[in-house]
Amino acid sequence: METPTLFICLYFICLSVFGLSTAADTFSSGQSMKDGESLVSSDQSFELGFFSPGNSKNRYIGIWYKISPGRVVWVANRENPLTDSHGVLAFGHDGDLVLFNQSNSVIWSSNFSRVLKNPVAQLLDTGNLVLRENYSLNSDEYSWQSFDHPSDTQLPGMKLGWDLKIGLERHLTSWKSMDDPSPGDYIYRLNIQGLPQFELISLGSGKKYRTGTWDGIQFSAVPMVLHALTKLVFFNGDDEKFFSYEAIKSEYSASIFTLNHSGIIQFYTASKRSNAWNLAYSPNDPCDSYSTCGANGICRSSRASICNCLKGFVPKSPEEWNLLNWSGGCTRRIPINCPKEDGFLKLAKVKIPDLLEFWLNESMSLEECQAECLKNCSCTAYANSDVNGGGSGCILWFGNLIDIKEYEEDNYGQTLHIRLPISELGNFANQCLFL
Ligand SMILES: *[C@@H]1O[C@H](CO)[C@@H](O)[C@H](O)[C@H]1NC(C)=O
Ligand SMILES: *[C@@H]1O[C@H](CO)[C@@H](O)[C@H](O)[C@H]1NC(C)=O
Ligand SMILES: *[C@@H]1O[C@H](CO)[C@@H](O)[C@H](O)[C@H]1NC(C)=O
Ligand SMILES: *[C@@H]1O[C@H](CO)[C@@H](O)[C@H](O)[C@H]1NC(C)=O
Ligand SMILES: *[C@@H]1O[C@H](CO)[C@@H](O)[C@H](O)[C@H]1NC(C)=O
Ligand SMILES: *[C@@H]1O[C@H](CO)[C@@H](O)[C@H](O)[C@H]1NC(C)=O
Ligand SMILES: *[C@@H]1O[C@H](CO)[C@@H](O)[C@H](O)[C@H]1NC(C)=O
Repeated sequence: METPTLFICLYFICLSVFGLSTAADTFSSGQSMKDGESLVSSDQSFELGFFSPGNSKNRYIGIWYKISPGRVVWVANRENPLTDSHGVLAFGHDGDLVLFNQSNSVIWSSNFSRVLKNPVAQLLDTGNLVLRENYSLNSDEYSWQSFDHPSDTQLPGMKLGWDLKIGLERHLTSWKSMDDPSPGDYIYRLNIQGLPQFELISLGSGKKYRTGTWDGIQFSAVPMVLHALTKLVFFNGDDEKFFSYEAIKSEYSASIFTLNHSGIIQFYTASKRSNAWNLAYSPNDPCDSYSTCGANGICRSSRASICNCLKGFVPKSPEEWNLLNWSGGCTRRIPINCPKEDGFLKLAKVKIPDLLEFWLNESMSLEECQAECLKNCSCTAYANSDVNGGGSGCILWFGNLIDIKEYEEDNYGQTLHIRLPISELGNFANQCLFL
């Protein structure tokens, strides 16, 4: 009778002393994780544990690449730090994952609706922390996963965008500062009004950057360097719309897409040789800043003066414009003749204007699109919505045209048709074909 009891006691002591610190990827109900202990994914890529960011003494639960504990890619209790090192991660009675402080108050909870009988938390090789029944390995049966609640970083395989069936949006939110992972001033999210496009939004001052709309093949402002480094995936279904990318395991030990706390998106890779992070891409073209040239302006970063008015338009405030203050934008030199005849000027290789006031029909031809634009005197421009197979679909813009950028490189951008009075088109044909 003595022996089994002794055995069980020893077993539990073993568990609490060595159980998690010997780098398991899983823990189950009855177990818990204290500050100092961690989970490590089975391939040793990722680690989940307690950390203090920057100069802060607060404690948080986070996930990081094991090679790089200083760069945390996900934080559980972002908004509610522990103030000492007595936090414990364990299961609540419904099978949700709960972080308790020393006085057993709930600091953070995975807070899902499905009740688990024998819950297991597992840190997968992708860096995704999942909760599931102990017998189930099917990803459709995860009751909760950290990939559904991104912090400021997208890992390979993680989706940013919308699952419309369950009403879930996954977006990045910057940290407040190096010392504080609570949600800061910037959000990077997929806007699905009309054609999908990613937008970087400052809570204080609105849009700062957009990738350009999905044209059926790419987002125009997502550069080739990213296409070369990794396989980008955009899924544009009725139920789900998301962007994701794949790790290129052979060359890089790690990669991250992240939104830093000053509102800059960055793509980093770590090579297998050095394990140091290299900044592979961050938008640094002044024409990538939202609406650099104001309404009806066009941005060309190769020019000495990057902003010009679209053809047929003049600076609204010439004095400010000459002082390189472009914020006032441009206005028509001659009003359009509507309902008498107008024409269209073709502008190739551009990031088409932001979709502010617009109309979309994804099955119209370009000819029908032009006719539709001419029917309405407030229509200012049109373009195909999809560039595949020579182009199809129709977008109409009403009002000012905002955030147009011209690309130098081939295979970037789309063709935009801008409405002008016939007299203006004649002028340009005779005098200045190229601005
Ligand atoms: C635990 O959290 C509760 C609620 O936030 C707080 O009132 C309490 O002081 C905390 N206890 C410790 C030991 O930090
Ligand atoms: C859990 O979710 C419910 C409903 O969304 C919310 O009211 C509650 O505050 C959440 N609890 C925690 C601990 O996050
Ligand atoms: C799941 O947990 C229950 C209760 O601890 C146990 O009886 C069962 O064997 C476990 N199943 C698996 C597949 O681990
Ligand atoms: C954010 O990224 C930009 C571009 O790489 C960099 O200049 C800036 O210093 C970064 N800000 C912080 C707070 O890391
Ligand atoms: C830029 O011009 C606008 C008017 O177009 C004016 O309101 C604004 O104050 C100017 N900004 C600066 C920095 O001069
Ligand atoms: C879209 O265009 C097609 C082709 O012209 C037309 O048959 C259809 O009715 C249009 N749909 C809408 C919503 O206007
Ligand atoms: C022109 O388009 C605008 C914006 O969609 C709409 O509000 C207006 O009713 C249209 N006018 C006509 C004559 O169709």
